Amino acid sequence: MLILALESSCDETSAAVVEMDEGLRRIRSNHIASQIAVHRLYGGVVPEIASRAHIEAISALTQNALDDAGCTLADIGAIGVTASPGLIGALLVGVNFAKSLAYANDIPLVPVNHVRAHVAAALLADPTLTPPFLALVVSGGHTSIYAVEDYTTYRLLGGTRDDAAGEAFDKVGRVIGLPYPGGAAMDRLAALGDARAIAFPSPALAGDTLDFSFSGLKTAALNYLNGEAQRGNPITVSPDALTAGRAADLAAAYTDTIVRAIVKKADQAMTATGVSTLVLAGGVAANSHLRAGLNALCAKRGAALRMPPLSLCGDNAAMVGAQAYYEYLAGVRGTTALNASASD
Ligand code: KG4
Ligand code: ZN
Repeated sequence: MLILALESSCDETSAAVVEMDEGLRRIRSNHIASQIAVHRLYGGVVPEIASRAHIEAISALTQNALDDAGCTLADIGAIGVTASPGLIGALLVGVNFAKSLAYANDIPLVPVNHVRAHVAAALLADPTLTPPFLALVVSGGHTSIYAVEDYTTYRLLGGTRDDAAGEAFDKVGRVIGLPYPGGAAMDRLAALGDARAIAFPSPALAGDTLDFSFSGLKTAALNYLNGEAQRGNPITVSPDALTAGRAADLAAAYTDTIVRAIVKKADQAMTATGVSTLVLAGGVAANSHLRAGLNALCAKRGAALRMPPLSLCGDNAAMVGAQAYYEYLAGVRGTTALNASASD
């Protein structure tokens, strides 16, 4: 069946058409209008600006996604839309647009959870992947480990008690002079530095828990940067010319601390559950150091690791469409009373 999907939870508006059936997971089109250039002026996402930009983009983007997929609304079997979690005003744009489209054209509407959609990106990337598996969702808003027992049964095993890993990357990136969002540039910068240069506290909480806390690490890095600045040696970097040096060492040590913590908890989660297929998803799944760390862990354990290609790690509607299919099969429907929710 063909599914039209919409995503507007944060700072990307996206519309996609996916073709899903038993044994078939195919992206027909996946259009993304990024607002990053606008938010960059403010150093982070401005929710009201995000909502307005979604409104401006969503209609034409949807038409483009249908055209590109070679179909019309008459061919669409269901409309999937991200309904939670995210910025409430941003979510409401997608939800209201999808509701109107579904109602006017008598097409079933399927609300989708954004975190599950990130995991579904891995389903699109590997059509043979089936639950049960463990899913590690690492993004700007989440650092969570789930036992995915079936396509629509997610059990939270652990997660961050405060900030998310993506947020932690972006915050330090911003302080050293990288434009929002700094995650991808921190990744490149870290490759040029020495991870042993600075010792930071681990965000992996001690013991059997699978929880994280990133606030201590973030504060330690900011204190380090402040201390250096007060001594007259501020650490900054030119975003257009990343080079080896103190900023690279900081990025390398910071990244290494985050990667080790996530790898440690992934290891513990596999041991605790006995599940040996791990899916990495979310925007931070694009991080090359995290990918390498989890690759090494899974190779050591003889576990299977599935990671979406970089193009499907960030927010996009194709992943929403893939999850919408399984929610649709499970009987999940949205009515005209469907509302968005900022939290899970
Ligand atoms: O999943 P996503 O697109 O949006 C949310 O649902 O939050 O994730 C965005 C986050 C941002 O914090 C961004 O800096 C981070 O993913 N990110 C990265 C990389 N690419 C994107 N963080 C580290 N390394 C990367 N290569
Ligand atoms: Zn996301």
